[in-house]
Amino acid sequence: MLDDLFNAARAAQAKAYAPYSRFNVGAAIRTASGKIYAGCNVENAAYPQGACAETGAISAMIVGGEHEIAEILVIGDGAGLVTPCGGCRQRIREFAAPGTAIHIAGPSGVRAHFTLEELLPVSFGPDHLGMKS
Ligand code: THU
Repeated sequence: MLDDLFNAARAAQAKAYAPYSRFNVGAAIRTASGKIYAGCNVENAAYPQGACAETGAISAMIVGGEHEIAEILVIGDGAGLVTPCGGCRQRIREFAAPGTAIHIAGPSGVRAHFTLEELLPVSFGPDHLGMKS
């Protein structure tokens, strides 16, 4: 069921530009329409200018003309769960519902499942500014 998302995220991870941390991350979003958009982390010699994999996947989704994340999968290496950073949780929040699934994978498969609400409780979002959520 998650094979297509996992494979898209893994393919993106393989293209990561992370010469400084050497920590390659991939992310893949399935939208409401069923399409998949992927991204990888892109680091920069001016460290704070680096971008996370989730940010790249969201950009690809927007370029694709879509605004609704149905589920997202993030893949990283190592023993720990590579959960989205705080900034990316908020970026996901912009285009997702509280119950939207965030799947966390390692090299050999999916390791954990969370909802956006679990990773970013009591969050601020477009609805606070009168936008449709
Ligand atoms: N990183 C991501 O791309 N996504 C995450 O969810 C966690 C961290 C990247 C940022 C940086 O390029 C590298 O991983 C090490 O922090």
